[in-house]
Amino acid sequence: MTTTPDTAGGAASATGYASVFDTPVTGRWSAPGRVNLIGEHTDYNDGFVLPFAIDRRATVTVGVRDDRLLRVASTFEEGVNEISLDALDPASMTGWPAYVFGIAWALQTAPERATTPSFAAAGGDLSTIDLSAVPGLDVFVESEVPVGAGLSSSAALECSAAVAMTELWSLDLGRETLAAVGQLSENEAVGAPTGIMDQSASLLGRADSAVFLDCRSLDSEVVDLGFGASDLEVLVVDTHVEHAHATGGYVDRRASCERGAEAMGVSSLRDLDADDLPRAAELLDDETYRRVRHVVTENQRVLDTVKALRTEGPTAIGALLDASHVSMRDDFEISVPELDLAVETAQRAGALGARMTGGGFGGSAIALVRSADREAVAEAVTTAFAEAGYTAPTVFTVHAAEGARRDG
Ligand code: GLA
Repeated sequence: MTTTPDTAGGAASATGYASVFDTPVTGRWSAPGRVNLIGEHTDYNDGFVLPFAIDRRATVTVGVRDDRLLRVASTFEEGVNEISLDALDPASMTGWPAYVFGIAWALQTAPERATTPSFAAAGGDLSTIDLSAVPGLDVFVESEVPVGAGLSSSAALECSAAVAMTELWSLDLGRETLAAVGQLSENEAVGAPTGIMDQSASLLGRADSAVFLDCRSLDSEVVDLGFGASDLEVLVVDTHVEHAHATGGYVDRRASCERGAEAMGVSSLRDLDADDLPRAAELLDDETYRRVRHVVTENQRVLDTVKALRTEGPTAIGALLDASHVSMRDDFEISVPELDLAVETAQRAGALGARMTGGGFGGSAIALVRSADREAVAEAVTTAFAEAGYTAPTVFTVHAAEGARRDG
């Protein structure tokens, strides 16, 4: 099992920055990836989610320029990419720089989007955003969040850039608004039609806690996980099966949900509950019905998980995690054999509960385990993958961590 890396140190970041940029460093900001404990494919259905920010972060080291260029470099790739703040165009943004350039574009565009659901729910006065005279920036990016693992490496990068730009450009924006900015950037600059969960977790996370978010109102509550006190840990199994949310299954699932809501006469699936399912079964084709049933039951599982955490503590949530996985595997059909094997093996090896996490079609599974069982569960999963002839997974523990912040 691999161990959690140390948070990227300031000295290393400064050296990386200085190897490509001449402007003095103004500051360093970071934002975490996330694990979704429960509530999958509910965010874009205006439903409930319960993610937590993890102790793996993206860090940006930033210097203020005296012109209008936004320049980015990273540890991922050699070279410097640049764009003028006077010519921000999402259509021209590609590769990893889009995650930084897209945030500047989304900040600039936010006032025009004030009436879209995310910005309207976030509130705040978007008319105060004026980027017409702000200085350009040199941005050096590094990240400990594994890419393609379903742990929101993209949101970590977007949110670290968002908090840095907000501070350096003196923008008075709340964290909910920044989450909507991140989502807009992801949707239009990166091109993935995702919901608002990942950016919300990265911005609102707190140590040892999950973020219980109502994706319609954007009201959020911090929910104590209590894992430490109960001697529990969350194991992540990164299957290394790659997923992409800009294409394929994610887009299809979103479309099925929209069709289901329309046929049921509601603006989103959030407006349905278990009592509506018999009518949905009559009205909808089998596949759309199962998609709808996943969202409806998953919303209820989020509410039940929050209640269980508050009343009985974290040892009581295992069955809800297990049920969530079954629903994603059979009704929403977003699991893959590697994720199923990780989940089933972890359960058999003593996990209290396990499920795939994130958008699906690859990425990671999580297992809630007693600390004493951690190594045995990790070993069982690694052995099962070898026996099945699958690529060796990476298995590691994560802890719930603080959201985006200034580090130096
Ligand atoms: C991805 C998206 C999120 C959410 C999840 C599924 O992580 O970025 O917005 O839809 O999938 O719950």
